[in-house]
Amino acid sequence: MLANTKPWLVLSLLLLAMLQCVYGKPQVHCFYVFGDSLSDNGNNNNLETAAKANYAPYGIDSTAGPTGRFCNGLNTIDYTCKLLGFKECIPPHANANTGGSDILQGLNYASGAAGIRPESGKHLGDNIDLGRQIGNHRAIYWRIVSRLGGFRNATQYFNKCLYYVNIGNNDYINNYFLPQRYPRSRIYTVNKYTDDLIHRLSRYIKVLHELGARKYVVCGTGLIGCTPNAISRRGTNGSLCVDELNAASFIFNSKLKSKVDKLKTIFTDSKFVFINGTDGTLDASLGFTVVNAPCCPTREDGQCVPNSTPCPNRRSHVFYDEYHPTTRAAEFIALGSYNQYGPHLTH
Ligand SMILES: *[C@@H]1O[C@H](CO)[C@@H](O)[C@H](O)[C@H]1NC(C)=O
Ligand SMILES: *[C@@H]1O[C@H](CO)[C@@H](O)[C@H](O)[C@H]1NC(C)=O
Ligand SMILES: *[C@@H]1O[C@H](CO)[C@@H](O)[C@H](O)[C@H]1NC(C)=O
Repeated sequence: MLANTKPWLVLSLLLLAMLQCVYGKPQVHCFYVFGDSLSDNGNNNNLETAAKANYAPYGIDSTAGPTGRFCNGLNTIDYTCKLLGFKECIPPHANANTGGSDILQGLNYASGAAGIRPESGKHLGDNIDLGRQIGNHRAIYWRIVSRLGGFRNATQYFNKCLYYVNIGNNDYINNYFLPQRYPRSRIYTVNKYTDDLIHRLSRYIKVLHELGARKYVVCGTGLIGCTPNAISRRGTNGSLCVDELNAASFIFNSKLKSKVDKLKTIFTDSKFVFINGTDGTLDASLGFTVVNAPCCPTREDGQCVPNSTPCPNRRSHVFYDEYHPTTRAAEFIALGSYNQYGPHLTH
């Protein structure tokens, strides 16, 4: 959730802005996103679920207003699009038939509350779990094959796209660590449960490879024990954060890194960059003076109370609601990751 942030990032942000003025073309031909609410830009709006953010005060700092982004303004994917040089960010898959924009630029399949396991987050209502996101991509794959006039052209196209996978937080927050709703923690240790998640995730990555994916950014989970929700609902027993939750995240990231290293040796035709989601912090050195309290008044599930008035000093807050970064935090997170994969996966 909270990625790399060092003061030199501010400088590279300026440099990148300058570079983009010089080179107006996107740095990748197309961009496909798989994930959860950190990436969702409207896919849940028409689903039967509490896990959607198409109401005020979400979007308060965006000219577009509430769009379904779990943020006060642009989210991490929006900033990633900017860094990659896209004029307009890729649309949600839910708008693939209505959006008017060209699906050949890519699509965002991410869904709030979604996990790698199909049941994760479902106590909140429907969500598009990773298996369904991959299924949606398979359908888009066939549309593009027919649009480009066959496999040869389509394969060339898919080979050039960037595939960004950032999912797993809900498999802990909205599954394993919610024993009132989900039995997994009575059946598995965190270690065994995580093995299962990584196994499933790597199977999905193999499907993407079958569908022509060759450039991957694979993100780990964030410091799930440092969200305002975890801290206020569980207590920290003297620590800064809820250690038990963060420990799970460290295990996930360590196993995911090993898996990505293994995938590199299996798929030598592909490039993978692993992003460690627990690396780095957003703190006072970057102007974030409130790191463990939400900016908006929150309801029982940790999202903003509809039509409530959020804090005025949003640029000093890391979190907008009890789980999701503010737009300023999202900008740093996007840049921290971009600095790691950009040199390897863009042209
Ligand atoms: C494949 O792409 C090339 C170049 O854009 C185009 O000329 C050709 O017609 C395409 N092939 C098919 C079968 O549509
Ligand atoms: C709380 O912290 C103390 C001291 O570090 C430790 O001994 C104890 O096991 C912790 N309790 C829980 C519930 O984690
Ligand atoms: C991720 O970053 C944290 C904090 O820097 C570090 O302790 C951990 O070892 C890293 N994990 C991996 C898999 O690189």
